Amino acid sequence: MASVAALVPAAGMGLRLGENLPKAFVDLGGRTLLDWALDGLLASGALSHVVVVVPDRLVDRTRDICARVSGDLPIDVVVGGAERADSVRAGLRAAARADVILVHDAARCLTPPETVARVVDAVIAGSPAVVPVLPVVDTMKSVDADGVVTGTVDRASLRSVQTPQGFDADVLRRAHAAADHATDDAGLVERLGVPVTTVAGHPEAFKITTPMDLVLARAVLAARHP
Ligand code: CTP
Ligand code: MG
Repeated sequence: MASVAALVPAAGMGLRLGENLPKAFVDLGGRTLLDWALDGLLASGALSHVVVVVPDRLVDRTRDICARVSGDLPIDVVVGGAERADSVRAGLRAAARADVILVHDAARCLTPPETVARVVDAVIAGSPAVVPVLPVVDTMKSVDADGVVTGTVDRASLRSVQTPQGFDADVLRRAHAAADHATDDAGLVERLGVPVTTVAGHPEAFKITTPMDLVLARAVLAARHP
């Protein structure tokens, strides 16, 4: 059976959320975003190993969180870096034996277990890189430096991309070895010329970025547990 590791970048500062602590440790309904994110990953039943990547000063706190949620699954805690890609690379070093690697933002903490399992299944079925996506609902326009509209983009060919993103482990290692800047891991894989395929994402896999997203997350939890 394939060994499946999930790397959980949780080392960001959460500046846009503005809570004065790293976002993964912000409270949502009495637990941290990281607690919720780990719950969803573990409930998928699809993982062999988890690596959580956090700021240096929160390693002990993270070990406590992991001890509460882990069950039988091994969870390692490692220190992240200045950029998200640095944090992913730190996680990769702790997942040396994995055949399949997921990268899942702690900030997408309400991602349903079914979405996690769908990504893993697609990689195991032979896709070297898989991203969960949603259709774009707004009309999309391009603008110039002054904000003047230069065109309307055909949204039928656009998708919003979520995590977890899933990869053949060697492909992800090669992508990060060659790495410069990209906002997601699949972006680095695309540059290798490796095909990236899509599976259905989920509205509840949205990323908590701004205070408005926390309002939405509280509403989602209230709807799950009325
Ligand atoms: N992340 C990380 N290491 C970094 C930067 C980001 O592990 N150096 C993680 C975040 O913790 C988050 C995910 O990557 O789970 C997505 O990043 P983002 O939403 O940008 O989170 P932050 O960087 O924390 O937020 P901000 O950009 O507003 O400061
Ligand atoms: Mg950031």
